[in-house]
Amino acid sequence: MSNVKELIASMSLPVIAAPMFTVSNPEMALATCAQGMMGTFPAHTTRNVEMLEDWLTTMADGLGRLKAENNGPVGPYGVNLVVHGTNLRLAGDLELCIKHKVPVILTSKGAPGAVFDAVHAYGGLVFHDIASARHAEKALDAGADGLIAVCGGAGGHCGTINPFALVNEVRQMTDKAIILAGAITTGRDVLTAQVMGADLVYMGTRFINTEESGAKDGYRQMIMEANATDIFFTAVMDGAPANLLAPSLIRAGVDLDGLKRQTPGAIVAADEGRKHWKDVWSAGHGVGSINDVLSVAALGDRLKAEYKAAKGDLGRFQAIV
Ligand SMILES: Cc1cc2nc3c(=O)[nH]c(=O)nc-3n(C[C@H](O)[C@H](O)[C@H](O)COP(=O)(O)O)c2cc1C
Repeated sequence: MSNVKELIASMSLPVIAAPMFTVSNPEMALATCAQGMMGTFPAHTTRNVEMLEDWLTTMADGLGRLKAENNGPVGPYGVNLVVHGTNLRLAGDLELCIKHKVPVILTSKGAPGAVFDAVHAYGGLVFHDIASARHAEKALDAGADGLIAVCGGAGGHCGTINPFALVNEVRQMTDKAIILAGAITTGRDVLTAQVMGADLVYMGTRFINTEESGAKDGYRQMIMEANATDIFFTAVMDGAPANLLAPSLIRAGVDLDGLKRQTPGAIVAADEGRKHWKDVWSAGHGVGSINDVLSVAALGDRLKAEYKAAKGDLGRFQAIV
C-alpha cells in the first residue's frame, strides 16, 4: 500500500479495530477485514516469534480466501509493535513483519526512525500512537505516515487530552493522516471523527464485545453493565496510566478511594499483589453505549448502517452562516 489515501479508498468504512493485548487475534482481525475495515493485533500477544509467524501466515491465507470469495472490499491488516528499547522482541518481530510485508505497522512508545524506514522499504505504512502535540512532532520527524491520537476516555494506556483539542493541535502541524482514538463506538461517531478532521478511527472497547474477541464472558458482561463513570483512570496496574473497569478493581481488592487521593502517575507499587491483576480489565469511556455481544460481521453491518443514517441526518443541522 503506497499511501494512506489508497489505503482508505480500499476500505468500506474508515475503521481500525484497535490492537488490544490478549483481546485481538487473527480470528477477530480476519472477520474485521471481511467487513472492509482494518483488522489488527499486537505482536506481543503472541508468546514468541514462532507463534507470531503462525498468526501472520493465518492472516495471509485468510485474506487470500476472502479476496477469492469476492464479496466486496477486503480491508487491510495491521500489527502493533512496541518500538521501545525495552521490547527485547522488537528486532525479531519486525523481521517477521518485513518478511510478511504487513501492510500497516502500528507503533507505540518511542518513535525510532530506523523502524519506520524498514517498514517503508517494503512498502508498508506506519501509524504511531501519540497523546500530545510533542509526541506528534517526534513521530512526524521520524517519518510516520499517520498519527493515532489517543485521547482522554480511550481504553488501555490512554491519553488525557480532549479529542477536539488534540485533533486541532495536530491538524495545525500536518496534513498527514490522523487516526482518532477514544470512546468511539458507533457509526455516527465515525462520521463525527471525520468531520472533526480525522481520517480514520481506532475502535477498541467496542470490539471486546464481539464473539471473535479473546475476552472472557465476565469481561464482556461487565462492559455491558458499565457506564462511563465506572471507568477508573489509574497507573496502579503496571505503572502506566490506563482506563480500567472499576468493578474489576474493586473485586481485586483495590482501594479506589485511596487511589483517588493520589495522582495517577504517583502510583509506583505496580507489582504489589500482581496475581490480583489477572482479572482486572481495561475499557474506555464508550462502555455506556455497548449493550451486547455480537459477531464482527453484525457489528460491521451496524456501523455501516449507523454511518449512513448519520450522513443522511446532516441536512437537518441548521446554522445561519
Ligand atoms: C483491553 C485493551 C488492551 C489494549 N492493548 C493495547 C496494545 O496491546 N497495544 C496498543 O497499542 N494499544 C492497546 N490498547 C489501546 C487500543 O489500541 C486503543 O487505543 C483504544 O482501545 C481506543 O479506545 P476505545 O477502547 O475507547 O475505543 C488496548 C486497549 C484495551 C481496551
